[in-house]
Amino acid sequence: MRVRTVFLFCLAPFMIGALLGCGGGGGDDGSGNGSGTDPHDVGECPPDSAAQQAAGLQALETHCQVCHTKALTGTNRGTIPAEINVDDPESIQNEGGEMYESIVEGTMPQGGGKLPDATIEDIRVYLACEAE
Ligand code: HEC
Repeated sequence: MRVRTVFLFCLAPFMIGALLGCGGGGGDDGSGNGSGTDPHDVGECPPDSAAQQAAGLQALETHCQVCHTKALTGTNRGTIPAEINVDDPESIQNEGGEMYESIVEGTMPQGGGKLPDATIEDIRVYLACEAE
């Protein structure tokens, strides 16, 4: 009896940890980052956000289009993925999450350093509204 009590007592913290580990992020899509906010997820398009959407588009044009444009083809394109083009509505719809993630993580714009939070939010709003 005594042995069993000690056994349970020792296991309890792990069991609680396991439960918390599985619960957490309501909107998690199973990407497994466990934070509850998936950087892949561009989230909601806020109402009356036309100005912010325009700012987001402009930021993509300023910071990304020099490399991620449909105009860049063949060997000129180097290693730039063919499906990531900020001047292509289809790419914005299909790859918006990828774009947002690369910006949040600061890997893009390549060589440019991480964008300011306000600019990242403008881009998120633009991508979210375009994805609807
Ligand atoms: C100076 C050129 C350049 C600029 C500017 C640039 N990219 Fe890239 N991007 C690349 C290259 C090259 C790759 C291919 C990956 C590599 O070789 O590192 C890439 C890859 C990506 C990928 C694929 C996933 C990944 O991280 O490899 C995404 C998404 C992306 N870029 C989004 C963006 C966005 C959004 C911006 C603007 C905020 C941007 N890029 C600005 C050159 C650029």
